[in-house]
Amino acid sequence: MKIAILGGTGRQGKGLAMRFALAGHDVLVGSRTQEKAEEATSEMNETMAGKATVNPAENGAAAEAAEIVFLTIPHPHEYATVEALKSSLTGKIIVDVSVPLTNFKPPEAELPEEGSAAEAVQKILGDDTPVVAAFKTTSSVVLQEIDKELVSDELVSSDHQAAKELVMKLVEEIGTRALDSGNLRNARAMELMTALLIGMDQRYKKRDIGFKFTNV
Ligand SMILES: NC(=O)c1ccc[n+]([C@@H]2O[C@H](COP(=O)([O-])OP(=O)(O)OC[C@H]3O[C@@H](n4cnc5c(N)ncnc54)[C@H](OP(=O)(O)O)[C@@H]3O)[C@@H](O)[C@H]2O)c1
Repeated sequence: MKIAILGGTGRQGKGLAMRFALAGHDVLVGSRTQEKAEEATSEMNETMAGKATVNPAENGAAAEAAEIVFLTIPHPHEYATVEALKSSLTGKIIVDVSVPLTNFKPPEAELPEEGSAAEAVQKILGDDTPVVAAFKTTSSVVLQEIDKELVSDELVSSDHQAAKELVMKLVEEIGTRALDSGNLRNARAMELMTALLIGMDQRYKKRDIGFKFTNV
């Protein structure tokens, strides 16, 4: 599939871009500037050492070209980016990865009035554009360690069943278990759980704590 990662030059985006490229997808790494996208993709291509490649693009061009678009932009800037690129995003499958953190140490998440960041993005784009919440509870440290298997579960939620199933398939393709986490409203729990995880990382002096559900 043709996958665009907007803000793909950052921590979470780089990990996802490399993982999807290694799974055989055509990945465009988006940035606000072509130059930064090129720098990031050369670094990622070097890390992948010929096993796969990713390509650079400005965010708008990446969104336009892709079938599925990941939003890996810091939450304070996410809505403005979605508004600005709305016409390119409409009708695509959008994966919202963001967590509305208001403080990092100690971590605090403040959910928006729409309920969650994912629901706020869904509201901006309208119901005809499926928004899926995923990769909110997986650390970028884990995603970027491409030689290591992913061991935590990935929670995936959406009000659009077909889009949710497609994202769950992509999750499984990168070697992790996708758990159907119901409708988009459940992104609220996922976003709060991430603040819990970051706090645990800080208390246990780790950078990669994740969730594993039992008896599913
Ligand atoms: N890091 C994690 O472990 C983790 C885990 C779960 C969820 N998340 C979520 O994933 C998202 C990205 O996190 P991150 O840690 O990868 O962030 P990041 O590295 O700080 O930033 C990601 C990218 O966002 C773009 N960006 C920065 N300011 C922007 C602005 N004003 N407008 C538009 N784009 C801007 C930048 O790309 P360009 O300069 O190239 O445009 C940057 O490389 C966040 O919403 C976060 O909550 C992160």
